[in-house]
Amino acid sequence: MTARYITTPIYYLNGEPHLGHVYTTVAADVLARYWRLSGAEVKFLTGTDEHGQKIAQAAEAAGKEPQEFVDEVSKEWFQMTQTIGSSQDQFIRTTQPDHYKAAQALWERLEAKGQIYKGAYSGWYSVRDEAYYDKSEITDGKAPSGSPVEWLEEESYFFKLSEWEEPLLRFYEEHPEAILPISRRNEVISFIKGGLRDLSISRSNFSWGVPVPTDPKHVMYVWIEALTNYLTALGYPNTDSQEFQTFWPNVIHLMGKDIIRFHAVYWPAFLMAAGIAPPHRIFAHGWLLHSGEKMSKSLGNVLEPFQLIDDYGLDQVRYFLMREVPFGQDGSFSEETFIHRINSDLTNDFGNLAQRVLSFIHKNANAQVPTPGEFTHEDEELLAKASHLHESLRDHMNAQALTKYCETIWAVISDANRYVDHMQPWSLKKSEDPQDQQRMGTILYVLSEVIRHVATYAQPVIPTAAGKILDQLAQESRDFASLKSPLKAGLELPKPEGVFPRVEVREAS
Ligand code: MSP
Repeated sequence: MTARYITTPIYYLNGEPHLGHVYTTVAADVLARYWRLSGAEVKFLTGTDEHGQKIAQAAEAAGKEPQEFVDEVSKEWFQMTQTIGSSQDQFIRTTQPDHYKAAQALWERLEAKGQIYKGAYSGWYSVRDEAYYDKSEITDGKAPSGSPVEWLEEESYFFKLSEWEEPLLRFYEEHPEAILPISRRNEVISFIKGGLRDLSISRSNFSWGVPVPTDPKHVMYVWIEALTNYLTALGYPNTDSQEFQTFWPNVIHLMGKDIIRFHAVYWPAFLMAAGIAPPHRIFAHGWLLHSGEKMSKSLGNVLEPFQLIDDYGLDQVRYFLMREVPFGQDGSFSEETFIHRINSDLTNDFGNLAQRVLSFIHKNANAQVPTPGEFTHEDEELLAKASHLHESLRDHMNAQALTKYCETIWAVISDANRYVDHMQPWSLKKSEDPQDQQRMGTILYVLSEVIRHVATYAQPVIPTAAGKILDQLAQESRDFASLKSPLKAGLELPKPEGVFPRVEVREAS
């Protein structure tokens, strides 16, 4: 597969971005950068979800018209993507005209296929989740998410979700990797097996949304409309375009596990009903917890990402998010584990390796990549580890195993550090014997070659620091294909500089 279409959820505009949102966006960015460097054709989409009752209420609370409110807040979310180095190809907003067109076209298509009927909804609704809940899911007036629910009775259009139980189960049976991790797939399957009821897909007691094309007293239920953003960005309703044909079959939807039901049950059902293939891959990651607790505005423990980036650096935050929390599981953030992780993996292991080797070359090898002599068994072994990274990293990325991706690179960094300690190139420097000098050059060459590999593969995660290390190795080509040719001996290297300053633990105040 040479094309990849990577999406994040589109974020609600009723609050400010926190570290949890940054987490999904960084993960998607790492995938996008990885595949671009692999030579794939990539489209990476993120953006904002701007309709629905929750946003209408937030606008009202701010004393603004909804459109004015979303225009302002959406800018902050766009700015978040810039601050975290997100390389999206498109930032979509659901208030843009082409999205209205796409959402209404999907509605019309479903209607034409006999998938929509008018009825009356009465049941529990959570505005905070913008979701309907079954009575069996409500405890003490709250949804399973902890959000308050309210009783709703209104005329509504329904989508015949109940007809899609069997086709969905069959699709997931035939595509065992359509939902990852497997534990989430199992949850989705048992939810579907529990029985699907028709879904209310319009609202009429407020108007901030995309009007139902055939009955503008109703607005489309925000989820059916919002999910369509993934098609809008490919020019839907035109499905014949090159863009649609290239990217839709290769879509990877990333999201937190809170919204898997929308993506893995409702969305594929809408798509199948409209005659469009269901998503190729849905990956739901876990929760980022703050010192063991779920982050939420009401608990007042939301982590503000921008301060963290200011204090410690962007690559540090990106690396921590990808490395510390096994991607797909829940994981905790605390300042202590954060500092420990970046000092140990970035400053000590990677930073020191690069700094030690490059400074040594600068001082003792004419600031040039040395010409290697014959390789020993140990040299060959380390070089082979670096050149075999390619296959294992590719497999990890194909499974969105982002934490394993980092671990695999850092295992080679540890091997390289052990190799330096064992080979002790500095002790050879003192020898007058030309053979020792030649051996020293070979060791430095091997190390530089390994550093070039790990820095090249680390680019998706820590783009700035990896880029600086590649600058210090005087590398022009930085895509993965460039690693097929060996490091050129004789390259003049600039004066090296450390890329990861050590961070001190702040005194508790
Ligand atoms: N607007 C919907 C999504 C529509 S997609 C067609 C929505 N928006 S949201 O602003 O609430 O963002 C939810 C997403 O933010 C989660 O699915 C997850 O990706 C991310 N996260 C929010 N808090 C998080 C954590 N504490 N931890 C990890 N991810 C978190 O739902």
